[in-house]
Amino acid sequence: MSALLPVYPRLDLDLVRANGVYMYTSDGRQILDLYGAHAVCPLGHAHPELAETLSNAYRTLDFYSNSLHMAVQERAANAVLGGSEHLAYVHFVNSGTEANESALHLARKLTGRKTVITLDSSFHGRTLGALSVTGLGGYRGRIPLDVPAHWCRTFTLGQEDLSSIDETVAGVMIEAIVSLGGLYVPDAAWLQRVEARCREVGAFFIFDEVQGGVGRTGTWYAHEAFGVKPDMVTLAKSLGAGFPVGAMVCTKAIGDRVGSGELGTTFGGGPMACAMVEAVANIIRRDGLMTRVLEIEARIRAGLAGIPGVEVRGKGCLLGVETPVSANTVRDALLARDIMVGTSSHPRTLRLLAPYILQDEHVDRFVTTLKEVIGV
Ligand SMILES: Cc1ncc(COP(=O)(O)O)c(C=O)c1O
Repeated sequence: MSALLPVYPRLDLDLVRANGVYMYTSDGRQILDLYGAHAVCPLGHAHPELAETLSNAYRTLDFYSNSLHMAVQERAANAVLGGSEHLAYVHFVNSGTEANESALHLARKLTGRKTVITLDSSFHGRTLGALSVTGLGGYRGRIPLDVPAHWCRTFTLGQEDLSSIDETVAGVMIEAIVSLGGLYVPDAAWLQRVEARCREVGAFFIFDEVQGGVGRTGTWYAHEAFGVKPDMVTLAKSLGAGFPVGAMVCTKAIGDRVGSGELGTTFGGGPMACAMVEAVANIIRRDGLMTRVLEIEARIRAGLAGIPGVEVRGKGCLLGVETPVSANTVRDALLARDIMVGTSSHPRTLRLLAPYILQDEHVDRFVTTLKEVIGV
């Protein structure tokens, strides 16, 4: 009997090692990882420079609390900002849900308002604050959490009527590309209308880029592609390439109003985490991987174009592939052929969260195998 609390529906794979785009099991299988460890490994597994970075970081300065200055934190923060024209401050935490908690906290604190609006298809995390604004009811509904309308209201991606964003609203939090909810990309003009409405009523405009950020969709921040300037952006997953770290990034106007002691966490922004953040950001930029993710997307789209019932949605290395067959069936059939993909809450949509270092031959193997599995 396993001593692990049985909260995760685990696949029948006993993983012992991972390297590059492959994972290895105890029974000798080599599996192509197109799930990217749930969008956490943009540079694949066991990247030699990151191995060096982490081991040097531990030897140089393993950990100290946020009660003093550490230069590596400043370097990591600047790497996260990436020269953004409008974002100016970074608050490091340990996970995506905590990054969202930080944004929700500041939105409510600085407006003095309680209500947050999110997409009805969104997922924002499992801690109670983030869970209470998660649109996907299946997650919120697990515990008695009757979210009152003055705490969170939801709206639908692309919804015409934006009047629910009114003077009672502290913030509107948008999942940059709805991922678990089925891989839907917002329309730029609609997002610009939401942003304008937020400005009109004095609500903060917040982007959850926990999954879509860190170059995954072809720009460092996912929001850049939509011509909007959110007041706060949250990041995690790929940010530390496997080392747990998240970040809440905000404008100068917000950061200048935040006082000492307003937010905090023991491990957030530890020197090892920050060394990894700095290295991951530098490698993604140096190696042109934000261009590569768009090439990967284009090759997948070209390979699957014109197949009846098949639709590719999403951007870069955050893609959904809808097929006429149940996603679980396709996922299992691909896995039987040593290719790992994910699923989403859409019953027929696979999720691809591949490492940005995927080569054309890996893409082609996926396309050919998928066609074989769905019988086209
Ligand atoms: C869009 C989004 N926001 C927040 C979270 C929560 O992140 P974490 O699991 O690191 O708390 C996730 C996790 O899947 C996510 O996809």
